[in-house]
Amino acid sequence: MKDEGPQHQGASAQLESERLVGYLVEAVRSSAKYRQVCAEAVRNVGERELAGHRNLKEAIKATKNRLHQVGAAYLPARMRYGQWLEGLRHAARSSESDLRAGCLRIMGHHASTRERLPILERFYLTTLREIGPVHSVLDVACGFNPLAIPWMGLPPEAAYFAYDMYEDLTAFVGSFLTLVERPGKAEARDVLYGLPSEAADLAYLLKAIPCLEQLDKGAGPRLLETIRAQHLLVSFPVASLGGKDRHMVANYEARFRELVGGKGWAVQRFAFESELAFLVSK
Ligand SMILES: C[S@@+](CC[C@H](N)C(=O)[O-])C[C@H]1O[C@@H](n2cnc3c(N)ncnc32)[C@H](O)[C@@H]1O
Repeated sequence: MKDEGPQHQGASAQLESERLVGYLVEAVRSSAKYRQVCAEAVRNVGERELAGHRNLKEAIKATKNRLHQVGAAYLPARMRYGQWLEGLRHAARSSESDLRAGCLRIMGHHASTRERLPILERFYLTTLREIGPVHSVLDVACGFNPLAIPWMGLPPEAAYFAYDMYEDLTAFVGSFLTLVERPGKAEARDVLYGLPSEAADLAYLLKAIPCLEQLDKGAGPRLLETIRAQHLLVSFPVASLGGKDRHMVANYEARFRELVGGKGWAVQRFAFESELAFLVSK
């Protein structure tokens, strides 16, 4: 009889779990709604859900639910990236104000960026007023925030590095960076595990912590500690996607204070009508 010692059993359990994760990733990405979520993010969410559910079917469903909460819920059912890019190219040839109008229209399609539109003119000017010239920016879980570059007052040579879990969104953002001749890049990745290696003067972590902490409770402290930036602009929503919540601001502020407590970092607070922001300077 073959000797199936603990080592052999461990290896075959490992193979079986690899097979299940592979199957889950394929199943989730076969649906139109999640096809554009990078495989790395689906795998990371899926592995956790497989560990917490009785069977593969439940784990697939739970993975889709999570990906909905942290991403798809912010986006319309159909993204028109090709059409939007064409419109932006046309606008850029016309005038700066046409380009800005085009960016505003597109930002309106991402629920998180849409909430910022009424305060856009003030948001970056106010929060970044006291920091020196910014030569490089990291935008972590960026959504459509890079389309606000024309409002950020960055020097033309400042490089912009943007990351989100969606492949089509980051390809679109990358084309936008090229269009506006902004050095840098946009990449699809799971920012919980593949943190940007670039160092930067400024990092945006806009309305990202509540989202990422739904995937991993330790995300907030880890990101604040390890993102290699001198200044971090961290923000929180003041209303849920479904509407106002009067405890939300207090709860998020308490969570943020807990995250920065005892670190010795300088913190400035900015309360806008639709967003609560903190500038952390290390
Ligand atoms: C609340 S939105 C914030 C978007 C943007 N920062 C803003 O404030 O306009 C959260 C974004 O995080 C992205 N996201 C969620 N989980 C992610 C992950 N693990 N890795 C990379 N991006 C993620 C979603 O696709 C979504 O665009």
